[in-house]
Amino acid sequence: MKTFKIFILGSIIAVLAVSFMVTCTDERSGEPVEVFIQKEWGQVDGKKVYLFTLKNEKGDEVKITNYGGIVTSWITADKSGKKSNVVIGYDSLSRYQEKNPYFGAIIGRYANRIGNATFKIDTATYHLAANDGKNSLHGGLKGFDKVVWDASWNDTTNALTLKYVSKDGEEGYPGNLTVTVAYKLTNDNELLIDYTAETDKPTVLNLTNHSYFNLTGDVNNTILDHTLQINADKYTPVDATLIPTGELKEVKGTPFDFLQPHKIGERINDVKGGYDHNFVLNRQGDKPELAATLADSVSGRVLEVYTSQPGMQFYTGNFLDGTNKLSDGKPINIHTALCLETQHFPDSPNKPAFPTTLLKPGEKFHSQTKYKISVK
Ligand code: GLA
Repeated sequence: MKTFKIFILGSIIAVLAVSFMVTCTDERSGEPVEVFIQKEWGQVDGKKVYLFTLKNEKGDEVKITNYGGIVTSWITADKSGKKSNVVIGYDSLSRYQEKNPYFGAIIGRYANRIGNATFKIDTATYHLAANDGKNSLHGGLKGFDKVVWDASWNDTTNALTLKYVSKDGEEGYPGNLTVTVAYKLTNDNELLIDYTAETDKPTVLNLTNHSYFNLTGDVNNTILDHTLQINADKYTPVDATLIPTGELKEVKGTPFDFLQPHKIGERINDVKGGYDHNFVLNRQGDKPELAATLADSVSGRVLEVYTSQPGMQFYTGNFLDGTNKLSDGKPINIHTALCLETQHFPDSPNKPAFPTTLLKPGEKFHSQTKYKISVK
């Protein structure tokens, strides 16, 4: 149908460095979807980088680049109809290449930490780069957040599909791993992220999206007044290097109890360094379920996170120190944004009791996460 041809045409036009916009209709759902392909955004590793804009009927606009699969902005209205960007991002590729604390990126091959930067599969030991003290963080020196993904428009699902083949031995991980991440913006202001992966040798895998949210749409405000509810009876306590001890601890009676909504700032000082912890989501089945609800009473914006993953890292931007600046010069200071990273538990390859992150040849990894924004 039309969209695909338009996408191809768009790519050609994009090569000519001309921007254009189209409106077309998804035949299955009848949803009007606008796809905007901007001029090329640059080039990395000899591959072309683009910036794609997904728009919906409500006027929400999500920009995504195939460099790192990064969500660079999500423009959405507040309760008075005023639109602003609720995720932290840059407006040029070079800014992402210079210094990016994973803003908006797809993280892999293993999101979060692997203790001592080593793990075993059967009798083989694998060594990774220790890029976070003695541990491995977010896939190593050049994780999935720093590579160029192949982008295409999926005509059937109406989603931007990104594909990356991570070679056997890349960043120390075994197996040629083929990963696809599909992004779709619906007319209900939901950003659906669908991950699949296959390997030709046993490997470990943990994929997430590392968007930083500030529902006020302004980094002059911290997220400490945002209210958060997390559907988790337990969390995974960590050692001083943020590696889980292995215990699944009840949140009851601790600052990690978000079963009822709490302001983030209410108990953050009782948590050394701020929140940077994995929550063990209460789950009924394999389908995506509500994991968290974040709300800002001033803008009226509410973010709901649904996922099929077993865990969610709640990170309060503790390492943001103002050295990263938005294009208008505003510094991104500590606690001015937060992440709700749906994932498997950190260090699972070294914690046999945690849900497995092992992927074997012949298996197909599949997970789904949905970020939904509404106003109250
Ligand atoms: C994750 C980690 C944090 C930090 C950020 C990126 O959320 O858990 O400790 O590394 O990524 O700065």
